[in-house]
Amino acid sequence: MNVRAYRSPSHAVHSLSLGTPTVIFNGDCIKLIKRIPDGSVDLTISSPPYCMGKEYETARSVEEFIAAQQVILPEVVRVTRDGGSICWQVGYHVTNQRAYPLDYAVFSILSGLKDVILRNRIIWTFGFGLNDTSRFSGRHETVLWFTKGLKYAFNLDAVRVPQKYPGKRSHKGPHKGEFSCNPKGKNPGDVWEIPNVKACHVEKVGHPCQYPVGLADRLIRAICPTRGLVFDPYMGSASTGIAAIISGRRFLGAEVNEKYQNMAYRRLVSAYQGAAPYRSADQPIHTPRSEDAVARRPDHFPEV
Ligand SMILES: C[S@@+](CC[C@H](N)C(=O)[O-])C[C@H]1O[C@@H](n2cnc3c(N)ncnc32)[C@H](O)[C@@H]1O
Repeated sequence: MNVRAYRSPSHAVHSLSLGTPTVIFNGDCIKLIKRIPDGSVDLTISSPPYCMGKEYETARSVEEFIAAQQVILPEVVRVTRDGGSICWQVGYHVTNQRAYPLDYAVFSILSGLKDVILRNRIIWTFGFGLNDTSRFSGRHETVLWFTKGLKYAFNLDAVRVPQKYPGKRSHKGPHKGEFSCNPKGKNPGDVWEIPNVKACHVEKVGHPCQYPVGLADRLIRAICPTRGLVFDPYMGSASTGIAAIISGRRFLGAEVNEKYQNMAYRRLVSAYQGAAPYRSADQPIHTPRSEDAVARRPDHFPEV
């Protein structure tokens, strides 16, 4: 069995130590993380509840979000090996029309911990979402990537994307005729446009806040060693786990809600069977042709 699910945190950690490649725990992630030995995780990728009153949480204040992060984040650092990484994905907390960028709080907590260094603030941008009328509609969230220590691995070649002008060569000077850019592709940069998982997305399995597998996949391929252990304490539908399986890494996840845990289990099993639909972050974004645009206002439409 490649995937095993547990309600006991100690059984989950024991199963992982015996070599089960994917282990999930149904319960509070704090109970699980307390059982994980120091320095045993290569990469944590997670999106915690924003305390905004989604289906899986009660609406709480931003101060309560911060208090919860002050508990979990030091534990995440403890279980990360030296040279390992933490990627924390968050958006905004909005109350009474006041927007608070949650990565601000995450940065304040993590950068205050010993040996934790911010490497990137990745902007994840997407084309769809709620249409606001009192401010610009939110079309991005962020991923803060931290390393534990100064020395860390970064496999850029695993995540290069096509150059704008592939195969372009210098036409003069000492390098005339040679490629003027890296023929393997370019660095994807720190602004990633990846469609969010809304109604018709191939990855949609019914969780209200799935992030795209492609987001986690690019992080894993760049930052996590082959066969390394990826951890997601707020696993939801296990998008991080799917990405870990696709790229041959091990996975440990926690989810407190039984319905989502079952969803995650089914999805992880189907990933091992090669049957979990997945949209690569490298797949081009659909751009409507100008001739397809509806340029007329409804009052221009002919009466029938
Ligand atoms: C933002 S969602 C994560 C979604 C996930 N990234 C995905 O793609 O499906 C946060 C998840 O954390 C879960 N959760 C909240 N508190 C938790 C806790 N203390 N321990 C474990 N899971 C928790 C929620 O039930 C929810 O599914």
